[in-house]
Amino acid sequence: MVYTLLCLVSVVAVLPQAPSPFQVGATVKTTSGQSQGHPSAWLPNVSEYLGIPYAQPPVSSLRFSAPKPYNSTSTFTAAKFSPNCPANVASPRNATITCLTVNVWSKPQTGEKKKAVMVWIYGGGFNTGNSLSPAYNGARLAEDEDVVLVSLNYRINIFGFHGARFLPDLNPGLLDQRLAVEWVRDNIAQSSGDPSRIILFGQSARSASPGAANCSSTWYAASRALNCGGEEVGGKTVECVRGKSWRDVLAAVKSVGGTNPMGAFGPKADGKTVFADYAARRAAGNFIRAPILVGATDDEGGLSVITGRGGASAPKGPPPSVSSSSPPGVVPPPAAKAPPASLWSVVINSMGPAKAGGAGIGRRQTAVPKAPDLSGIGCGPHSAALGRVKNGVPAWRYVYNGVWPNRDIESEGAWHGADIGLQFGTTEFLSKKPDTDEEKKMVKTIMRAWSAFAKDPKEGLKKLGWPIYDENKPTVISLGGRNHASVEFVDRKAYDDNCPA
Ligand SMILES: *[C@@H]1O[C@H](CO)[C@@H](O)[C@H](O)[C@H]1NC(C)=O
Ligand SMILES: *[C@@H]1O[C@H](CO)[C@@H](O)[C@H](O)[C@H]1NC(C)=O
Ligand SMILES: *[C@@H]1O[C@H](CO)[C@@H](O)[C@H](O)[C@H]1NC(C)=O
Ligand SMILES: *[C@@H]1O[C@H](CO)[C@@H](O)[C@H](O)[C@H]1NC(C)=O
Repeated sequence: MVYTLLCLVSVVAVLPQAPSPFQVGATVKTTSGQSQGHPSAWLPNVSEYLGIPYAQPPVSSLRFSAPKPYNSTSTFTAAKFSPNCPANVASPRNATITCLTVNVWSKPQTGEKKKAVMVWIYGGGFNTGNSLSPAYNGARLAEDEDVVLVSLNYRINIFGFHGARFLPDLNPGLLDQRLAVEWVRDNIAQSSGDPSRIILFGQSARSASPGAANCSSTWYAASRALNCGGEEVGGKTVECVRGKSWRDVLAAVKSVGGTNPMGAFGPKADGKTVFADYAARRAAGNFIRAPILVGATDDEGGLSVITGRGGASAPKGPPPSVSSSSPPGVVPPPAAKAPPASLWSVVINSMGPAKAGGAGIGRRQTAVPKAPDLSGIGCGPHSAALGRVKNGVPAWRYVYNGVWPNRDIESEGAWHGADIGLQFGTTEFLSKKPDTDEEKKMVKTIMRAWSAFAKDPKEGLKKLGWPIYDENKPTVISLGGRNHASVEFVDRKAYDDNCPA
């Protein structure tokens, strides 16, 4: 004991060290290796770590299978976003199968020592999407709101949601999301994140309804196109398809894709990651009892102003993260004007599932023949919020109504994905056009609310005065309007069309 003490004293005496100043982008130790960051090019006091692998490359026997953790002790330069996961909708120019990575933004030098963590999961109907869209840059949330922002890639399309029922895991894309969140739990403390305060947030794909289509048939159509046989050889198709290059697999998917590319692959009920009976589970309180904030935009269908236009008149030279074509099989409306190129990225990155029929959420569905109308969102937010509050779990519901000059795609109202730029504070960064004063206020309000929820999911929004959802009271939180930053609590009847009580 005495010896130990003396030893310590002598060390202290020899090394009278001042703590070294924090270096933005300092290397952090992770289970994926020593991750070397850099200052964000946009907000240089924020440390940015891009493209950190969290899973082993999903190749050979890992293709179409549950992901395996990636482990390393070597040094890794987290300098660039990894390429996108391969998709057959709006095929990204830069895709690769080695795409299972996370990105981290943090500002450890100020604020709480352990910060709430927000994990972003992109939309894209489970068939497209990526984490590198400039709309999803997390630097400003880290800079302004004292949170750590993480975004993740997950497999999409046939690689993430193959639907081949003879394989052990039907939805490897969802298992990717889970493994990435486990990576965050195990590593985020090194970036000043608090592993006991992690929220997930996302858009579009997370609200898609699983299980409708029969995807085994899509699988077999693709395997047949690859000369791997079809249903008659069953499980043997997998080994054969695993032997083909991912580009050939995607080409085969395209060749049998039909006219509804957004619906080709998606989550299937497996009783493990996806269930067939959500309504019953909600009624029985059989779900994770965590608070939620859930909502939609006023004119989800308004996105068809762009998606309905077809590839031919899409702006030339879209931002690098996106493709230049909209989904095939979509009929362009006459006399549609091209949207500003800067908006193309966020729009295509937030494109949702094309689902025909059903009640729309918005009052002003934009009618474009055969364009994705997104009306499948319908009663989703109402049911999700109601199921929670009926079981004593706090839930807040919003409708986003903001329409701003630098986000105007000439839809009637707030289009599908229009709210994302305000959650991240990336509206100017994305459009390269200034926010109006009212828009600045709205961005602040939304960033503050989302991060308040992250910091304290039970009390954060209450402290802002936002009411918990009550189907019989004006508790739908209406955010913004045509160039104004209002926050109003309104009756759900203004938005719901025959949604069940
Ligand atoms: C970065 O932080 C330093 C130290 O707090 C401050 O002096 C500087 O103004 C900040 N730079 C920017 C671009 O915000
Ligand atoms: C890899 O890392 C995970 C945590 O991310 C850990 O649970 C696992 O034991 C590690 N595996 C090996 C082989 O080191
Ligand atoms: C789904 O497709 C497979 C393969 O074509 C077929 O065997 C099965 O009967 C179909 N299931 C349903 C519910 O249609
Ligand atoms: C796509 O790849 C090209 C060539 O490797 C590269 O120059 C470009 O920066 C990449 N774009 C993105 C968005 O990663």
